[in-house]
Amino acid sequence: MSAVINRDKLKIRQAFANAAEHYDDFAHLQRMVADSLLQKSALTTLQGKVLDIGCGTGYLTQQLQVLGGYQQLIAFDIAQPMLQKTQQRLQGVVSYVCGDADMLPFQAASLDSIFSSLALQWCQHLPTVLQNFRRVLKPGGTLVFATFGTETLTELKQAWATVDQYRHINDFHTPQQLHALLPQDEWQNVQISRQVFRSQYASVAVLLRELKGLGAQSVSTGRKPQLTTKAQMQQMFEAYPKINAAGRIAASFEIIWVVAEAKL
Ligand SMILES: C[S@@+](CC[C@H](N)C(=O)[O-])C[C@H]1O[C@@H](n2cnc3c(N)ncnc32)[C@H](O)[C@@H]1O
Repeated sequence: MSAVINRDKLKIRQAFANAAEHYDDFAHLQRMVADSLLQKSALTTLQGKVLDIGCGTGYLTQQLQVLGGYQQLIAFDIAQPMLQKTQQRLQGVVSYVCGDADMLPFQAASLDSIFSSLALQWCQHLPTVLQNFRRVLKPGGTLVFATFGTETLTELKQAWATVDQYRHINDFHTPQQLHALLPQDEWQNVQISRQVFRSQYASVAVLLRELKGLGAQSVSTGRKPQLTTKAQMQQMFEAYPKINAAGRIAASFEIIWVVAEAKL
């Protein structure tokens, strides 16, 4: 199944398609976040129809498969090569859907659980996405996701701000904003937690290579219309705060985990 996708989405899809082959080499934080996601859900088994949105190469999908108990497990991603990687990783019966989380192709009250690890920050309009999650979940169904918070890549954002006023990093949500997007008349037992991780890199170039390797190189809106020049890139490199004389840097990643139940 595939959905109609706009131009920005095409760029995002292409970046992840290009990253699929070597994604796992860079995805250390992503695997740790997926492990924590399952711990925070406190689920010991699954049931019914389970969806993993933005499954990537299938690390979380595999953990869901191990939990078992479900009738159908659906791996869902906008990039076909990511789904192929998931397919290579998994054994047993799993359904694969290539589609856009902004336009979920599922019927109302048809799913028992929705999982998503570090994918929803790529959606165009999270409030609508969450409303749609509520629509497709059965009453009492579980939503478990992890996404990036506003402290993510603040050092890179500040370094770019010395060069121009365009957006080089996507905007993320705060825990409070996410809470507000899960209203009490639609969701219950909402739990939100956060943690900031600081990773170190030999240089800014190494950080940028990792982001590219993860497919995280597009900005959804407000991006610079022209290509960045070498001089602008150099200016950004120089503005990035260093932690030692050799040019070593740190980058912050704020992770927010959300667990909620569709209200009965
Ligand atoms: C950073 S990866 C995370 C993959 C995996 N969940 C993990 O934790 O390793 C983000 C994934 O979301 C997918 N994605 C991005 N936007 C999407 C959308 N609108 N709908 C469905 N999948 C999307 C990308 O293709 C990519 O595979």
